[in-house]
Amino acid sequence: MTNVNIPVITIDGPSGAGKGTIAQMLALELSWNILDSGALYRTLAYFMKENQISLDEFQDKQNEIKKRFLVSFDPGIPGEPVRVLFENKDVTSIVRTEEMAKLTSNLAAEPIIREFIKPCQRDFMTLPGLIADGRDMGTVIFSDAKHKIFLTASVEERAKRRQTQLKRQGLEVNMRSLLQELEERDRKDMEREHSPLVPAEDSVIIDTSNLNPEGVVKEIKIYL
Ligand code: C5P
Repeated sequence: MTNVNIPVITIDGPSGAGKGTIAQMLALELSWNILDSGALYRTLAYFMKENQISLDEFQDKQNEIKKRFLVSFDPGIPGEPVRVLFENKDVTSIVRTEEMAKLTSNLAAEPIIREFIKPCQRDFMTLPGLIADGRDMGTVIFSDAKHKIFLTASVEERAKRRQTQLKRQGLEVNMRSLLQELEERDRKDMEREHSPLVPAEDSVIIDTSNLNPEGVVKEIKIYL
């Protein structure tokens, strides 16, 4: 399935565990491609919302959607989120809201959506290598990747990080509701039937609660 000549590092874990930051740092350092699969799901959710495509209509419109669903990523600059480009537009701030996250999490539990996204994700695997960030990168999409990392952190720490991230985007959010939303989303992602969020058996699990990004990258490099 995975082209063995193209190296892939998968980085999975729950929201706010630091996947985006770490994936960005590694992609910039190695000059590899980056796949932010969460943003891919978010962009599909945004596209369906904008074009008023319901899940029921998705099956019939799949071919047409496929032609239009061309997303690319720019690792951007450290400290800022990975940029999401779609239909000649930078949709980063549009897709990275909590409202879109909630919508996305519901959509991502649907097998038809996951099947649709599967080949889109694998298309990102090009030379010189790929950093793939998500929930099922190591378990399903790039299951034979040589390096698999699973990042985790306490829910309080993850909520704090999310709040800082959203603040940087100019969005003010209440900590209590953020905690609740995060827990709800984690539960949905972990309990869903298709591609639930679990560490791959052959992954390295790193708790990032008490580590800064440089510390996490240092630890990952031990395993590369
Ligand atoms: O990582 P991010 O918060 O952007 O992901 C948004 C949502 O997309 C997640 O809560 C999850 O439901 C879904 N997702 C997924 N599989 C992935 C990446 C994200 O189901 N590989």
